[in-house]
Amino acid sequence: MRILVINGPNLNLLGIREPDIYGRKDFRALEEMIYATCREQGIEAELFQSNYEGAIVEKIQDAIGSFDGIIINPAAYTHTSIAILDALKAVAIPAVEVHLSDVNSREAFRRISYAGMACVKTFAGLGFEGYKQAILFLIEYLEGKGAV
Ligand code: DQA
Repeated sequence: MRILVINGPNLNLLGIREPDIYGRKDFRALEEMIYATCREQGIEAELFQSNYEGAIVEKIQDAIGSFDGIIINPAAYTHTSIAILDALKAVAIPAVEVHLSDVNSREAFRRISYAGMACVKTFAGLGFEGYKQAILFLIEYLEGKGAV
């Protein structure tokens, strides 16, 4: 089983960026946690971070035939990007949405998630743990669908 983990804009600044909301651990720590979780579970993972909407769309498009599942934190593009929503729908690869913060208890504009409309589940407000939960959920989901 191979999964693609996509992180959107400004997540590369974790640790520096609004630490009261996003925590004090940096992006490298997040990447290490994701790789460690995938290793423990015996699955392969590729991580991709970009601050550009089009780059994220292209990465999703390129996932066809290469990945069984996608985990995505589209960051601010969550609330604006119909292009990312359409890309997820186009490739039809099971996707799980993650947010470090509890987007539903913040500003009203964060309550809309376009990407989430193409995802089988969302984990929000759990910090790094949300990515771990998303990986475990996606594995079970894909196994249920008969993916190896
Ligand atoms: C975020 C929440 C978004 O509203 C915000 O724009 C982000 C990060 C999160 O992980 O909590 O950049 O996706």
